[in-house]
Amino acid sequence: MDSSWYKPFKIKVVEPIRLIPRAERERKLKEAGYNLFNLRSADIYIDLLTDSGTGAMSQAQWAAIMEGDEAYAGSRSFALFHETVREITGFPYILPTHQGRAAEHVLFSCALEPGKYVLSNTFFDTTRANVIARGCRPVDFPIPEALDPESDRPFKGNMDVDALRSFVAEKRAEAIAMIVLTITNNTMAGQPVSLANVRAVSEIARAHGIPLFVDACRHAENSFFIREWESGYAEKSPLEISREVFSLADGCIMSAKKDGLGNIGGFLAMRDEALFVRCRERLILVEGFPTYGGLAGRDLAALSVGLREALEIDYLRDRVGQVRWLAERLRGEGIPIYWPPGGHAVYVDAGKLLPHVPPYQFPGQALACALYLEAGIRACEVGAAMLGEEARFQFVRLAIPRRVYTREHLEAVVTALIRIAGKREEIQGMRLVAGEGPLRHFLARFEPIED
Ligand SMILES: Cc1ncc(COP(=O)(O)O)c(C=O)c1O
Repeated sequence: MDSSWYKPFKIKVVEPIRLIPRAERERKLKEAGYNLFNLRSADIYIDLLTDSGTGAMSQAQWAAIMEGDEAYAGSRSFALFHETVREITGFPYILPTHQGRAAEHVLFSCALEPGKYVLSNTFFDTTRANVIARGCRPVDFPIPEALDPESDRPFKGNMDVDALRSFVAEKRAEAIAMIVLTITNNTMAGQPVSLANVRAVSEIARAHGIPLFVDACRHAENSFFIREWESGYAEKSPLEISREVFSLADGCIMSAKKDGLGNIGGFLAMRDEALFVRCRERLILVEGFPTYGGLAGRDLAALSVGLREALEIDYLRDRVGQVRWLAERLRGEGIPIYWPPGGHAVYVDAGKLLPHVPPYQFPGQALACALYLEAGIRACEVGAAMLGEEARFQFVRLAIPRRVYTREHLEAVVTALIRIAGKREEIQGMRLVAGEGPLRHFLARFEPIED
């Protein structure tokens, strides 16, 4: 059988959804200040806002939930979680958090000295904001090919190693507090990072005594790409590949709402005992006791199963394959998208689809609103609204929740985008009427620019 038709699960529980009438969608969108974060999920038909915490759990995860141990300290669920994270990452010191940004906050407040640089292939929005909140300066080093959305080059999430080397030589290692490698690289269209690149960055970090941390939300998807594309890895399991990635770093932060297949959760893990002791102290202040870190025992239990399931080859083949299928369908219909697709989302190039809307009129926001009006689909702007003037592209990200939607749902997304492309000149730009700062996109309000 053609492997593109192989689905490694069937549906056991269903959640009703419905498409509200167009007139209602217009009213709801206006009330929401043309910001899709302000919509109620009951008013959304297909929700592609994020793949974070929106996945469907397996029967094994639900069974684990029933065995969750809610002891305040030293729970069985924590022991299971610790053993799982230790096995996958190899890091000896592990602290759970309620989600990824809490891990960032705890790590950065203990490991970063204000005033220093923190370098990345590309920072995710909350990670960048946490670096800034600590008084440090985030700098991105994407590879030049990543800026070409049509280049076929694999691993466009890589860090530009030459630029990194020059920066370290110019500013000196003492001025750099940390390197954070985001795998896969969410704000760079979810592109994967090769093992060769992780190794090269690690060599530079080690040679200069700069700590290297992996932002590991989507490490399993990243390992799948390494297995598919990088020579020498086809026979290795995703777990073996992830272990090799982590072996090259000093620690990691992870939102387990992605490749932990959980609806909530995260962690930080590291090798340095002294840093761990400081982070543990901080964790108690802001998250909770080190054996629960802001999570219920049942959450830790579900994650212990989910972190392993996310590394299963059949699961990953289906997951990355579904995203690729959507990307190929859209590309085949002439919708401009970032190519090749990454592991968790398809990024539609709103700048290209709506060439009459300049970046300062937020073409991504305009397209995301049009998609909601057309078919009740919610997507996420990753462009000028989210990243301000730093935005290199005007994307609308169609993030695919894990194990949630079928091909029929995604076919509805394709149809809606084809219809929008057919009447693109009717779509107007947006004006920002409220919202500021690096996280403004969550709460901002817009209005359409009338002719
Ligand atoms: C690459 C990356 N890092 C960090 C985070 C933050 O994780 P959380 O939403 O769990 O706080 C995200 C969330 O989407 C992400 O994609």
